[in-house]
Amino acid sequence: MMILGIESSCDETAVAIVRDGQQILTNQIRSQIDLHRVHGGVVPELASREHLNSIHHLIEAALAEADLSPEAIDGLAVTQGPGLSGALLVGLATAQSLAWLWNKPLMGINHLEGHIYANFLAFGDQIRFPLLVLLVSGGHTLLIEMHEHGSYTLVGTTRDDAIGEAFDKVARLLGLPYPGGPEVDRQARSGNSAAFDFPRSLPDSYDFSFSGLKTAVLYALRKIDGPPPVADICASFQQAAIDSVLDKTFRYARARGIQQVSITGGVSANSLLRSRLQALQREFEVFMPPLALCTDNAAMIAACAAYRWQPVSALNLTVRPRWPLVTGTTAG
Ligand code: KG4
Ligand code: ZN
Repeated sequence: MMILGIESSCDETAVAIVRDGQQILTNQIRSQIDLHRVHGGVVPELASREHLNSIHHLIEAALAEADLSPEAIDGLAVTQGPGLSGALLVGLATAQSLAWLWNKPLMGINHLEGHIYANFLAFGDQIRFPLLVLLVSGGHTLLIEMHEHGSYTLVGTTRDDAIGEAFDKVARLLGLPYPGGPEVDRQARSGNSAAFDFPRSLPDSYDFSFSGLKTAVLYALRKIDGPPPVADICASFQQAAIDSVLDKTFRYARARGIQQVSITGGVSANSLLRSRLQALQREFEVFMPPLALCTDNAAMIAACAAYRWQPVSALNLTVRPRWPLVTGTTAG
């Protein structure tokens, strides 16, 4: 099955064509980073306008790179939410128009479920259930037990900031450019992670919290006269943030006897996270997406649709911010 996916929930316009949920024929991504950097963060209205400028070019480029005509596409998939509503609307309206114009079925995909399918795209044949999923992105921090395709139990979520948001805010405190996560990661490589003893929050819960950690960085900065030791702060912050998500994830996996763990979302590109996960491969089978599939892309949206194919009438598709699929909770 050949699916053309569209993603426009935040500051990346993306179009991909994926065959049978596993083979990426093209993965077009146009980042808006340069546009938003001068403002220190994503400006929603600018994001929508830029999606509008880019999306048709990306669709043409995707068909050209895959060397396909629209007739060869079996269906369309588009991110329905969560995200910036104006930005989402550009992708949705485009997908609806194409579905009508090309006479193809269309499915709306939840962005978070899309991130989960980045690992199915890369490692589909190796993944078995139950699967523990740690989703770490700019907007969410979720620990999810996945029982089968489409069946999830929410184990933990953040009580305040998302982990990527904490990386971005700490970068801002340190005067590092947007987006802060990759910049903190880069600085941390030459820093001492034991230089500052930042807190690991909620040690007894499977929920996450990052606002205390962010405030601890702020207070540490206030106490410093002169130029701050940026690399040491980045390394110590990163160590605390990554420790706290991994400790909870693997504590839960051990408690439930879950062998397979999937880490996904933008922060799964973090180099400390990835090296810590390599070390855990002896005890668990850990899946993390290749770097190009960690942050927002449309290949994961197309792959999710292939596994969960339930097309709807294109006219009925609207922005849908909540994820109705995560039901109940097994842990406190
Ligand atoms: O998944 P994503 O592209 O967008 C959302 O759905 O939110 O994630 C973006 C987030 C940003 O907060 C960004 O700073 C963070 O992922 N990020 C990183 C790294 N690369 C991206 N955080 C830490 N280390 C990285 N290497
Ligand atoms: Zn995302």
